[in-house]
Amino acid sequence: MSQSLVVVHALHKSYQTAAGTMPVLKQVDFNMEAGDFVAIMGPSGSGKSTFMNILGCLDKPSSGEYTLDGHTVAQLDNNALAQIRSQTIGFVFQGFNLLSRASLLDNVALPLVYAGVHKAERQARARVLLEK
Ligand SMILES: Nc1ncnc2c1ncn2[C@@H]1O[C@H](COP(=O)(O)OP(=O)(O)OP(=O)(O)O)[C@@H](O)[C@H]1O
Ligand SMILES: [Mg+2]
Repeated sequence: MSQSLVVVHALHKSYQTAAGTMPVLKQVDFNMEAGDFVAIMGPSGSGKSTFMNILGCLDKPSSGEYTLDGHTVAQLDNNALAQIRSQTIGFVFQGFNLLSRASLLDNVALPLVYAGVHKAERQARARVLLEK
């Protein structure tokens, strides 16, 4: 059997605060298959954003395992995490997080700059997406 798209095992995340170490995620186990549609629910402050930040490779767990599409990502450095985000993960944010100094076309094309796609193709692909 092939491995799940997302495999999280014994995941812990703590924040360092003035009051000391604050544990937020404690021993989380979680699997997700390709094509799954998942909602993460819980009261305010229970750690949903903390967990999503780790799943989205924006932050690292304090300990535990995270395997994304067969790659061990739990303790990659920031550059390697940025590479994974660029190639593997799409975010739809609650706020659109557009850059006001750039045109709509340039906003949509921006991630392709970091992916190393040349300008004509960036703009063509962004136009197709905007038309959709
Ligand atoms: N960067 C941080 N430094 C210290 N504590 C943090 C940090 N980020 C979150 N926390 C704390 O960690 C806990 C979990 O926060 P988190 O934002 O993950 O919760 P949430 O489930 O997303 O809440 P909400 O429903 O309000 O969005 C909270 O007690 C929060 O105050
Ligand atoms: Mg939140």
